[in-house]
Amino acid sequence: MSTALHVTDAADPRLADYTALTDVALRRRKEPAEGLFMAEGEKVIRRALQAGYPMRSMLLTPRWADAMRDVIDASAAPVYLVDPETAERVTGYHVHRGALAAMGRTPLPAAADLLASARRLAVLEAVNDHTNVGAVFRGAAALGLDGVLLSPDCADPLYRRSVKVSMGAVFSLPYARLDHWPHSLRDVTDAGFRLLALTPDAHARDIAEVAAETRTERVALMLGAEGDGLTPRALAAADTRVRIPMSHGIDSLNVAAAAAVAFYAVTHTS
Ligand SMILES: C[S@@+](CC[C@H](N)C(=O)[O-])C[C@H]1O[C@@H](n2cnc3c(N)ncnc32)[C@H](O)[C@@H]1O
Repeated sequence: MSTALHVTDAADPRLADYTALTDVALRRRKEPAEGLFMAEGEKVIRRALQAGYPMRSMLLTPRWADAMRDVIDASAAPVYLVDPETAERVTGYHVHRGALAAMGRTPLPAAADLLASARRLAVLEAVNDHTNVGAVFRGAAALGLDGVLLSPDCADPLYRRSVKVSMGAVFSLPYARLDHWPHSLRDVTDAGFRLLALTPDAHARDIAEVAAETRTERVALMLGAEGDGLTPRALAAADTRVRIPMSHGIDSLNVAAAAAVAFYAVTHTS
């Protein structure tokens, strides 16, 4: 059981994990290297704990101390109580949900383990926007995919924004990094997955048609970043290029929207 400690000085070194959270470049560099990530808000903190992530400390505004009483009582991690103004000075932004927790990372599963057990996977190439990564995870979890494989340059699913947008799906859906891009895509096809490349290219096949063909197969759906989309090397590694037909002169969907349509097609086509 931990004791809640009142802290009034925003420069208190015990709050160092929470400083400068708006500095995206710093967090990108610092979080994975130090094995930390931020969980924001009561629900997200509870989901992270349920998923087995160890809590290093918690920063609460006083009105959240009661709501989080059971968490405080069950944890040995220090809990710092700060008023909302101090919280804002420490983090650099308004802490809307009044509760932040510095959580320790746990080792990711190996891609080989995910490939051995999954039937439906998403593969993301260079999706470097944290909001999009979070939204893809939310859709993948909601629509029944078994996991996500990330190219080495994809944004961090445990970055604060990704966690928030995913509604905690980054904790429940297993994911792994593919170490060698695009060579590791061979591991996906060697594991028996049909690798579908999602592209708005008019020459690609309609996703509905291909989804009907792949009902009994293991399928991996590969998506690219805003801007350029999938690289030629990733497209070349795929078994089949598939597209979601577009209307009204719109050339493409946002990657998370395209992902949700494709996930639905391969999980709900009978
Ligand atoms: C904004 S799009 C990138 C657009 C880029 N100009 C291209 O040609 O791929 C981001 C990702 O969403 C997916 N996507 C978007 N619209 C799609 C569509 N109509 N059909 C299939 N995939 C689509 C693709 O995986 C794409 O790499």
